[in-house]
Order: sequence, then C-alpha cells, then structure tokens
Amino acid sequence: MRILITGGAGFIGSNFVHYILEKYPDDRVLVLDALTYAGNLDNFSKADGENPNFQFFHGNIIDEELVNELMRNVDTVVHFAAETHVDRSIHEAGAFLETDVLGTYVLLEAARRSAIKRFVHISTDEVYGEAEGEASREGDDLKPKSPYAASKTGADRLAWSYWTTYDLPVTISRCANNYGPLQYPEKLIPLFVTNALEDKPLPVYGHGKNTRDWIYVMDHCSAVDLLLRADADKVCGEVFNVSSECEKSVLDITAIILKALGKPESLINHVEDRPGHVERHAVDPSKLKKALGWKPEYDFEENISKTIDWYRENEAWWRKLKEKQAEYKAWIKEHYGE
Ligand code: NAD
Ligand code: TYD
Repeated sequence: MRILITGGAGFIGSNFVHYILEKYPDDRVLVLDALTYAGNLDNFSKADGENPNFQFFHGNIIDEELVNELMRNVDTVVHFAAETHVDRSIHEAGAFLETDVLGTYVLLEAARRSAIKRFVHISTDEVYGEAEGEASREGDDLKPKSPYAASKTGADRLAWSYWTTYDLPVTISRCANNYGPLQYPEKLIPLFVTNALEDKPLPVYGHGKNTRDWIYVMDHCSAVDLLLRADADKVCGEVFNVSSECEKSVLDITAIILKALGKPESLINHVEDRPGHVERHAVDPSKLKKALGWKPEYDFEENISKTIDWYRENEAWWRKLKEKQAEYKAWIKEHYGE
C-alpha cells in the first residue's frame, strides 16, 4: 500500500507513521506536513529517516499543486493534518477554517481526481458537543461548541459529501481524547506532566470536573489501520466512533499526574474557565467493534503511567519546545498570563 499521511509530524500522525512502518515493512509512507508549531521533525527517529519506504514532504495541505502531485504517487490517504487546540481556536478561529475545512477540501478534490482507493478522514468526538446521558453515537446530532469543533464538523461532513456525490471511498473516524508520547505540551496531559516536573502551577479551568473519554494513542492507530484496509462495503460512506470507554475528569487526571510524580496538590491552580467548555465527551464505539472486530488493547492505568514516564525520561524532547520555541512562550503568556 502507498499511503499519504497528512499531519504525520504531529502527535497522532507520527505515532501512526511508526505503527505503519513497523507493522507493514512493505508499505510506502509519504508524509505531508506544514510543520506548524505542532509539527515536529524530532518525532521521527534516525531509522525513520533512513527507511527507504518513508518520505517526508514539507508543505501545506492547501497547496493544490503539491497535493495533486503527491496524490498521483499514492493509492490511499489518512488525513490527520489540522489545527487542533480548542483554546487556540477561541483566540484565532481563521487558521482552523483554513486548514481544517479548506485544506480538507483541497485533499478531497485531489483524491477524487486521482481515483484514490481509500480516504480515511480523521474527525473527532468534539463534533458531537456535549454527551448528555448515553455516550454519543454516530447518528447523533452534531452540536460542536468551539471554532475547532465546528471546523472539524465542516470537514467531517464535507468528506462524507464526497462519498455521496462523487463515490470517493471515504471513511470517517471520530475518536475520543488521545494520550501518549509525542503530544505537544499545550494539551492537558503533556502540559500538566511537564509543568509538574518543573514545579510550575497546573492551570485547571474552572472547577475541573469536566470529563473526557481517554484512549491510548496506539489504540486509535489500530482503529485507523482497520478502516484503511477493511472491505469498502463495510466502511465507505460510514462514520465510526473510536473509544476505550474510559471517562475521567480533569481533576482525576491531575491527581494521577501529581501522585505519579510525587508532587504536592498545592501546584493545582484553578483559573478562569474556557468559554464554551464542553462538560462531558463520551463516545460509544460499539459500531466499530461490531463491524470490524476492533477492540482497545491498552489499559488506562498502565499506559497513563507509562506516558508520564515517557515525558519524565524524554525531557530534552519537550524542553526544546517549551524553552526554545518562541511561539510556545508567546502562547503560554497570551493564554495563561505571566
Ligand atoms: P497535532 O496538533 O499534534 O498535529 C497536527 C499536525 O498537522 C502537525 O504536525 C501540523 O504541523 C500539521 N498541520 C497543521 N496544519 C497543516 C497544514 N495546513 N498543512 C499540513 N500540515 C498541517 O494534532 P493531533 O493531536 O495529532 O491530531 C491529529 C488529528 O486527529 C487531527 O485531525 C485532530 O482533529 C484529530 N483528533 C485528535 C484527537 C486528540 O486527542 N489529539 C482526538 C480525536 C481526533
Ligand atoms: P485539551 O487537552 O485541550 O483537549 P480537549 O479540549 O480537546 O478535550 O483539554 C482536556 C480537558 O482539560 C478539557 O476539559 C480542558 C481541560 N484543560 C484545563 O483544565 N487546563 C488546561 O490548561 C488545558 C490545556 C486543558
């Protein structure tokens, strides 16, 4: 298989690249990534660079010429590239519309012209908005609450329309919150782990009782891989939730991090709440389990602990971002103040 992986230098994308290169030594992987603040070449190893089946292309998904050219060299696409941070979308929605909606359009257009055999669109559980009562299911209303979630909703429905209109073999995943190595230290878990390691405050928004549905990144990768290789009649034109059904609040996660690192509760700092803060995300993965026999394999307790250890042991990786990247410092100052 020849796969174009967009956003492959980001958190989930780079974990997915490693998953594919290891599991399918004969697959060819082409990564297209704009290397925004969230894209990081350090997420690839020397061995990746020397692997003849791995090629990295530095470029933007809204660049039609480049996208058309790359599309001619692959038969499948896994589209991760996006602006992904809810808080940033509140500060600057335009970048989200441009990459998440317009960028997805450019890829879909190029894919239909190149007769791509499978287009896996990586959507998110954020498209549902609040999970009230039962966990969200694929047929539920979409009520995104942030500009990020709304942009991803636009992209999700646009991708589906390319199936209904042009028969492009699109399948859509809506995954819960991922945790694991290589996540940019602006999201809850890597931000709090690295702040705690530096004895800096952990900024909990509001009361901290908001819950998220947590999944280890490798379980997300295995689900995407199944969608990429499944028979077309099982997955094309379909949406699949991905979740390991593990709901935890921000305060639960904070307590786990502090305990694992032996740090005091006095580091917890309740700050102003996020506007439009979703109280609960929870998604029901029954459809994926039933259709493709997928099941999550990574236990939360064990893998959150391994994830915390990974950040502890890979200080050089995150220090380079937190201390040397002017963009990171500017974001922290703008968003959290001094
Ligand atoms: P990330 O922010 O870590 O990485 C995004 C990557 O996309 C970066 O490498 C960045 O350089 C690249 N990128 C951004 N704009 C681009 C552009 N215009 N052209 C080319 N590349 C561009 O994000 P992530 O957490 O790895 O998320 C990946 C995907 O998974 C996103 O589509 C996101 O919506 C989705 N998702 C994420 C989660 C989660 O918990 N992180 C959960 C469900 C779905
Ligand atoms: P985040 O990691 O930004 O992911 P998402 O908003 O996509 O779920 O946030 C996860 C939860 O953590 C969410 O309820 C907001 C909360 N949070 C904080 O309390 N403080 C923070 O500094 C951040 C970044 C998140």
